[in-house]
Amino acid sequence: MSNKMWGGRFETGPDAIMEEINVSIGFDQRLYAQDIAGSKAHASMLAAKGIIDKADAEKIAAGLDTILSEIEGGQFTFQRALEDIHMNVESRLAQLIGASAGRLHTARSRNDQVATDFRLYVRDTLDTLDAQIRDLQKALTEKALHYSGTVMPGFTHLQTAQPVTFGHHLMAYVEMLGRDRGRLRDARARLNECPLGAAALAGTSFPIDRFATATALGFDRPTANSLDSVSDRDFVLETLAAASICAMHLSRFAEEIVIWTSPLVGLIKLSDRFTTGSSIMPQKRNPDAAELVRAKIGRIAGAFNGLLMVMKGLALAYAKDMQEDKEGAFDAFSTLSLMIAATAGMVRDMVPNEKKMKEAAGQGYSTATDLADWLVRVLGLPFREAHHVTGRIVGLASDREIPLHKLKLEEMQGVEPRITKEVFGVLSVSKSVASRVSYGGTAPKNVRAQAKRWLKQLAKEG
Ligand code: ARG
Repeated sequence: MSNKMWGGRFETGPDAIMEEINVSIGFDQRLYAQDIAGSKAHASMLAAKGIIDKADAEKIAAGLDTILSEIEGGQFTFQRALEDIHMNVESRLAQLIGASAGRLHTARSRNDQVATDFRLYVRDTLDTLDAQIRDLQKALTEKALHYSGTVMPGFTHLQTAQPVTFGHHLMAYVEMLGRDRGRLRDARARLNECPLGAAALAGTSFPIDRFATATALGFDRPTANSLDSVSDRDFVLETLAAASICAMHLSRFAEEIVIWTSPLVGLIKLSDRFTTGSSIMPQKRNPDAAELVRAKIGRIAGAFNGLLMVMKGLALAYAKDMQEDKEGAFDAFSTLSLMIAATAGMVRDMVPNEKKMKEAAGQGYSTATDLADWLVRVLGLPFREAHHVTGRIVGLASDREIPLHKLKLEEMQGVEPRITKEVFGVLSVSKSVASRVSYGGTAPKNVRAQAKRWLKQLAKEG
C-alpha cells in the first residue's frame, strides 16, 4: 500500500530498504509532546484567523489531547509505515475525529513542523541542563566552603607547583560551569524564535498569524525568513558545542578524581556509592564513575561533529539529511545529563585526606616562590635576583634531601647573608596559602568569600 499521507501519486509502497533508511519514528517519537503542543497552537491560530472552522479546531484539540494521554499511558502504537512522529500523530487523529483531522495540516508542512518541535525539545533540554549544572555548582561550592582552609598541592605540568586550598581548586570548576551555563543560556536566547508557518520553504498564501503561534508556544517572535526557518539547525549545533565544552570540563575534573584516588596519590576518597570493586582483586576500589565521565565526552563531541558534517554543504532549504540531527543530539543530551548527575554524586560524597594533602603540598619545594617573594618584599631584591638566590637555596636543600624549612638559617645566609629568621614565617604551606590574598587568589578567606557569594547567587536562581 502506498503511504496514506502522501501516496496520492504512488502505485506501490516503498521497498523494505527504502522504509528502513527513511523511517525515524524509532527515535523522533521523543518529540511527541512538542509535536502535539505545536499542532494545538497551529489549529487554534487557524480557527482564530477563520482559516478552519472553530468546530474543527475544537475536535482537533480534543483529539490531540487524547493522543497525548494515549502516548503517555503507553497505549499508542507507533507505526513504521507512517515514518515519523508527525504522521503517526496525524494519522491517529484521523482515526479519532475523522475528516476534520485533515484540516490540521493547512498552511504548514512537516518541514516547519519538525523545526518547531525540535526547537521546543532543545529548549526544554537547555532548561533541564541549566538546573542540573546549577545543582552541581552548589555541591562543589558547599564542599569548597567546608574545605576552604584545607591545603593541597597545586600543579602545573602535573608537577607540584605551589600550595593551594582544596576549596579553591573546587571553586575553579564552579567558575567553568558558570561559563557553561552562560553558553547554554545564549543558545537558548538565539533558539527562541518560532519557525512554524514557514510551511515547506516559501511561506503560505493563507492569512496565518505567525506571531500568535510563536507567543502560544513561548517563543519570543517568529523566525524572519521562511527558507532559513526550515533549514536552520544552528540551535542544535550551538547546544551541542556548549554541551561539548561542558563535558570537557567534567572530563578534566574526572581525570583529577582518577589521579587523586590512585593509591599512589591518595588525596581523596570516594564513597562506596561511587566506587566499584574488582571481581578478582578484592582490595580494589575503582573510580569507574569518574573514568566514564572522563570518557563520555567522546559521544557528545562526536554528536556535535556528526551534525556539523551533516549540515555542511547542504543547499537550501530542507533536505532529508536533516533528519540525521536527532539521534546524536538525543544521546548527547542524556549523556551530559548523566555525567552531571554522576559528578555531583561523587562531589557530595568525596572526602579529602587532609593530612596527606598537606604533606604533599609541601613536597617539591612548593614554597620556593614564597621565599623569592620574601627576598623581594623584605630585602628589596629585584625578583630575577631573588629567583636566582632561591634557586641556590633550593639546590642546597635538595642536595641534602630535606624540605626548605629544615635548612639552618646559617646555610641560607651562606647564599644571601641578609636573610633573617623571619623567613621561616613564609616557608610553611599554611602561611603560603594564607598570604595569597590577591583578588582570585587561593587564600582561605578569599575562598570563603567567593563560595559565599556563589551560594547566594545560586540560591537566588533556584
Ligand atoms: N522526519 C522528518 C525529519 O525529521 C520530518 C520532516 C520531513 N519532511 C519531508 N518533507 N519529508 O526531518
